[in-house]
Formats: sequence, C-alpha cells, structure tokens
Amino acid sequence: MQTVQVTIEPPIAWVYLNRPEKLNALNEQLLDELKSALAELEKNNDVRVIVITGNGKAFCAGADITQFTQLNGYTAWKFARKGRQVMDFIESLSKPTIAMINGYALGGGLELAMACDLRIAAEEAQLGLPEINLGIYPGFGGTQRLIRLVGKGRALELMLTGDRIPAREAERIGLVNKVVPLAELQKVTRELALKLAKKPPVSIALIKMAVNKGAEASQDVGLEFESIGWGVVFSTEDQKEGVNAFLNKREPVFKGS
Ligand code: COA
Repeated sequence: MQTVQVTIEPPIAWVYLNRPEKLNALNEQLLDELKSALAELEKNNDVRVIVITGNGKAFCAGADITQFTQLNGYTAWKFARKGRQVMDFIESLSKPTIAMINGYALGGGLELAMACDLRIAAEEAQLGLPEINLGIYPGFGGTQRLIRLVGKGRALELMLTGDRIPAREAERIGLVNKVVPLAELQKVTRELALKLAKKPPVSIALIKMAVNKGAEASQDVGLEFESIGWGVVFSTEDQKEGVNAFLNKREPVFKGS
C-alpha cells in the first residue's frame, strides 16, 4: 500500500493516511487502500482499537480536488458513493475507532473523522466543511453526520459558510471529544485506546450497533435493538467474567469471547 500505512502495536492499530505532500487528500487509491486496510484490521484478533490519523501536518484536507476536473454527473455520483461507502464501512466496524486529528480536517477529512467513534484533536488543528467554496457541498456523509453530532443550526452554519473552526471551538460544539497540545496527541490517544482495549469487545460492538442503528430508527425500534443485544451479551464469557470479577472484588480480564 502506498497511500495508507498501518502499524500494529497490539492491541492498537495505527492507520496513517499517507499523502502528506497533498495533505492526505482522498483520491480513489487512498479510499480503496483505506477500506482494505480496515477490513484486514477488523479480522485481526491482535487488534482491539483502530486509530486513524494523517502523516505530515494535516489529518486530511478532503477529497482530492484535482480529480474533480475529470468528473461528470455520473462519475461524480460514483465517486461520492465510493467515499460515502468507505465512511459507512468505518462506522460499521465492530472495533472502536478513534480519529487522531493532528492538523487540518477539512471536507472529506472531517467526514472521515466524523465516521469514527471518537475524535481527539490537536490544539493546532482546524476543522471545517469548505466544499461550498468550490461550488459543491459535502458528499461523503457530512450533511448527515454533522447534524447528528452538533445539531442542525451549527451544522448549517459550518456548511453554508465553509469556515474553518479551531479545535477548541470544535470541542465546545461537540464535534470533537477532546483537545490536547500536538505534542501530547499521540500519548493521550494511546491512553484512550488502551482504556477501550480493556473493555469487552462484544459489548463494544453491540453498543456501536445500538447507537448507530438506533439513531436512524424510532426510539421504540432502537430500544428493541438494545434489548436484543443485551440478551446477546449474556451468551459471552466476558459477561460472566465481568460479573464474577465484580462479585469477587477483582479487575475483570475480557477476552472477546
Ligand atoms: N485536494 C488536492 N490537493 C490538495 C488538497 C485537496 N483537497 N488540499 C491540499 N492539496 C494540495 C495543495 O494543492 C498543495 O499541492 P502543491 O504543493 O502540489 O501545490 C499541497 O496539498 C499543500 O497544500 P497548500 O494549499 O499549499 O497548503 P497550505 O498550508 O497553504 O493550505 C489548506 C492548507 C488546507 C488551507 C489548503 O490546502 C486548502 O484549502 N485545501 C483544500 C481544502 C478543501 O477545500 N477541501 C474540500 C475538498 S472537497
């Protein structure tokens, strides 16, 4: 793989977008390589948490604008669909994902970060959906995921103005979970990843499913989903381990079965 680098440091997999000279802009190759790298990590039992970040000074400056000159209505639709499917795939992973936002997260870059479960940003990072300034608009899921994260008013403000906001402002409106100085970004992300890696994987997968699917359904359907998943965890060893550990006043060790 050229445009994506993966470092496995069990239980964490670090996925680096690797077109630093183009601020990690998302071209077809990068989208394909990202998806296949993540599909491998989903199967890898040594990996419990996936961190996505960018090589160089940017997290990702969005879809590769140079490709836009070649697109017509049909091929643009196919490109948007490809990007959107990669984002959906990220959201659907059973393992927790963290976007480690080391710099610019713009356009498709912010859409990628929003498809992750959690976002930790460097103080120096800037986030935004500037597509409107190109005569287009977000096409990799941004119109939908942003309203769910920050509400309609803020989402419209970001999309209609195309303005970039600093990480602290993104934290204030709920777009990122945490902001730290760039020098501490990897350390803080690793601590969070290790914390998540100690949790029972089946519970994590089912929480993600209940939250992501429930957010698309009526509350009643979401709650049924929750109840069914709640039953499923009782078929796991980890459920027995968690309860036994509590009753015996010790720390649980979850195996993912
Ligand atoms: N697509 C393709 N190339 C991109 C890109 C993108 N989305 N974003 C940056 N690049 C390229 C630049 O063209 C430049 O390439 P070059 O060295 O061959 O000229 C290189 O990455 C470095 O970017 P540069 O603009 O010189 O860096 P900067 O620090 O001055 O500005 C940004 C950084 C992020 C403000 C600016 O690059 C930018 O506005 N990018 C586009 C963001 C955007 O509109 N994203 C939505 C796309 S739908």
